[in-house]
Amino acid sequence: MKKIVIKKSLSLRGEVLVPGDKSISHRALIFSALSEGEAKIENFLFSQDCLSTMNCLKNLGVNIEILEKVVKVKGVGIRGLKEPEDVLDAGNSGTTIRLLTGLLSGIPNMFTVITGDSSLRRRPMRRVIDPLMNMGAMIWGRNDNNNPPLAIRGNQLKGFKHILKVASAQVKSALLIAGLLAEGETWVTEPALSRDHTERMFEYLGLPLEREGLTLKTHKIEGYKAKDFYIPGDISSAAFLIGAGLISEGSSVVIKNVGLNPTRVGMLEILKKSGAKIEILKEWEAGKEPIGDIKVEFSELEPIEVMGDIVPSLIDEVPILAIIATQAKGKSVFKDVEELKVKESDRIKAIVNGINKMGGKAEEIDGGFVVYGPSKLIGSEIDTFSDHRIAMSFAIAGLVAEGETIVESESISISFPNFVEVIFQLGGNIIELSA
Ligand code: S3P
Repeated sequence: MKKIVIKKSLSLRGEVLVPGDKSISHRALIFSALSEGEAKIENFLFSQDCLSTMNCLKNLGVNIEILEKVVKVKGVGIRGLKEPEDVLDAGNSGTTIRLLTGLLSGIPNMFTVITGDSSLRRRPMRRVIDPLMNMGAMIWGRNDNNNPPLAIRGNQLKGFKHILKVASAQVKSALLIAGLLAEGETWVTEPALSRDHTERMFEYLGLPLEREGLTLKTHKIEGYKAKDFYIPGDISSAAFLIGAGLISEGSSVVIKNVGLNPTRVGMLEILKKSGAKIEILKEWEAGKEPIGDIKVEFSELEPIEVMGDIVPSLIDEVPILAIIATQAKGKSVFKDVEELKVKESDRIKAIVNGINKMGGKAEEIDGGFVVYGPSKLIGSEIDTFSDHRIAMSFAIAGLVAEGETIVESESISISFPNFVEVIFQLGGNIIELSA
């Protein structure tokens, strides 16, 4: 298993790029596959998760070519996918399985089975299956229809007025895609605003969508034309470099071309409130998504407070925020983050265990956890539970810890394949060992 070893590193400096956004890369592939014509996707994220979506689509009869840095997709039309001969593999990717379940359940008569790795096979699927069944979908899964593998017999769906209990962009997107295939109108109301990349893509591609507060409305279509995409850098990957810059003394880091979608920037807002020196240097737009350069400097931080409606806009950044909190003064509180228990690992457990193992102080509370800082961290070997965001968060903790921090690094290719290289480029003391 590949591992990385990190040692204390002061004064990280430089200008770097992060790879393309994971959520937008998945969606650009799916929406290009369903379009009519050919689309080029620039700055696509070549990570395990997005390659899972790509392979599923290829097995559904979509022609996808990788040319240098551009991905070329030949759309088959919204009802043009072919029944796959074998089981589809979503790997570790919740976005792949949930969005494709929405799509495949709406293609009459097509039979598919979709599964994933041991982490994905534990994750809850009823949240997407139940509402799809209300539209007439026929889906079966393990554990009372909650876990993959899922068997799907496509059907002519009917519109439905969905009121979701959890704010989930994956569920919302699955239902909006199903809504494009369903008779009548499909409404989706979420309890708080989750990332809205699907909605922006609908707008960019000219697909039907109306918004009223937290309710979205769409309806059946016959087809749409392909359009090229430029994928902004992933703010969830930039988050680790932001963390590194903030906690490693003497640092000043610029991260270029990062997606700044308002439904993804909760981490920046929360950190600024704690006194973080974070600046947006310039901003522009591509495919309805705002993009900018972020400058971060080492900062003395007040406690971090995360709770309420801002949570969906920083949910993937909680692990790195927890590491930053170990270096902030006083008690940092993370509430309303129970969703972390059903991500790639039980992230609350992984965060609390890891911080305590490094000599910091963290404890689980109802619906979340607290971190007491500032702590002098001690290098340790951390259990990442094979979760990419846990591995990268503790690698960043290693930059301010005494001694050596060791984390499994295989999982990092899920979302940020050149993480080690970028940290090294900034002057981080990091090496990868393949054992
Ligand atoms: C994602 C949505 C989020 C996020 C995940 C990616 C997406 O999950 O945590 O990493 O691409 O739609 P939810 O579906 O819980 O919002």
